Amino acid sequence: MAILTKGPRGTQDVLPEESYKWKYLEKKVMDVVNLYGFREIRIPTFEHTELFNRSVGDTTDVVQKEMYTFTDKGGRSITLRPEGTAGTLRSAIEHGLLGDALPLKVAYLLSAFRYEKPQAGRLREFHQFGVELLGTPSPAADVEVISMVAQLFGELGIEARLEINSIGCPTCRAKYQQALREHFSARKEELCDSCKDRLERNPLRLLDCKSPVCQEIGQGAPVMLDFLCEECAEHFGQVKARLDEVEIPYVINPKIVRGLDYYVKTVFEFISDQIGAQSTICGGGRYDGLIQQLGGPDLPGIGFAMGLERILMTLEASGFRFPEEKECSAYIGSIGDKASAKAALLTGQLRKEGFRAECDTMGRSVKAQMKYANKLGARFSMIIGDSELEQGTAKLKKMADGSVIDIRLDAARNEPGNLVKAIFDDRLQEVASALKTE
Ligand code: HAM
Repeated sequence: MAILTKGPRGTQDVLPEESYKWKYLEKKVMDVVNLYGFREIRIPTFEHTELFNRSVGDTTDVVQKEMYTFTDKGGRSITLRPEGTAGTLRSAIEHGLLGDALPLKVAYLLSAFRYEKPQAGRLREFHQFGVELLGTPSPAADVEVISMVAQLFGELGIEARLEINSIGCPTCRAKYQQALREHFSARKEELCDSCKDRLERNPLRLLDCKSPVCQEIGQGAPVMLDFLCEECAEHFGQVKARLDEVEIPYVINPKIVRGLDYYVKTVFEFISDQIGAQSTICGGGRYDGLIQQLGGPDLPGIGFAMGLERILMTLEASGFRFPEEKECSAYIGSIGDKASAKAALLTGQLRKEGFRAECDTMGRSVKAQMKYANKLGARFSMIIGDSELEQGTAKLKKMADGSVIDIRLDAARNEPGNLVKAIFDDRLQEVASALKTE
């Protein structure tokens, strides 16, 4: 029954030896967004399917081929979120967050689901960190979110290339769509079935079709930058000028169209050369018009999301050293029931003082316990047996050099605010500072 012992294709377990890296990264991204005044929002894993059809767009690969959609027991069409923007906007509209206190700045960490062909860096369940900055059309907002990514990558030592483009607004895009139709119509018969349909409805989507033939036909296609209206060109010009001013390097890539329908004007991606084909570690852009389209006020917005799996891959590839988990300060071993209870008591006191401490829960031999203490990397260890209980003292061993300190086991307990002293009695200073700084 492999189905019971193997997770579904495209899913990934985060095992205990890896999870501290995730925790580190999640904290890091939230620390940086807080510096920019963004606050966390948490949204449901599933939404009404219609929300994604309307926002991500019903001619996109995501909606047409990749969504996990099902009918619930009440007969509603439900979809596991393929991304975070739509749900975030739905929530902001539903809860009236788009009132006077603009801009609204929200950030999220979430799982997302897309039925894609799995490969390195491409999963069916993956995780995104993203932000949305709502309520301002200014190029300053575009540069603010890009700056945040640049700062985060800088602090993590991630080297990634920023590529930007403008895909205009509905007004200027109409002419461009027509030019694309003309370009692709010449080889219409060779297009994949989805693209034949997209040719009339939304030819922009042909540019990010994954079929190799459609990609090849798209090679010489006209680019949106040549069709920008005055307002969009001016906006893009200001974004570039501001990026220059804040000294964030970028390249203009006229081929970026993004895989989601809601974008207008600025779109951008950060590309890493270290992780193979799935090299886009962050993608985003402006989506003026979307909030209104979803039934909210007519407000602009911009945001981005990054794939956390890809960020972790990039960090690993660059040899990033994740801060270690809290180390084990002391292993308090024991032989026999009475000693085991005493060891549990001392271990508990150490833990209340904020030290990571461990004791035996397996009934192991002394030898096996010491082996385990070594495996844990415990800085100090102690074994309590009958004779230690009788004498009321035990030897605390400093694992690094084998030196030993005698500890009184009957020292006053629960001395207010000083449990370590209660345990280690007059050796407090020596032991506590060694535990902390060793
Ligand atoms: P997206 O480009 O579809 O944009 O996804 C953002 C990032 O999520 C990608 O750059 C990539 O790092 C990661 N990603 C996407 N699909 C997968 C996958 N199958 N496996 C692993 N990682 C993946 C959005 O989702 C937009 N909501 C971003 C945004 C926010 N735009 C404005 N606000």
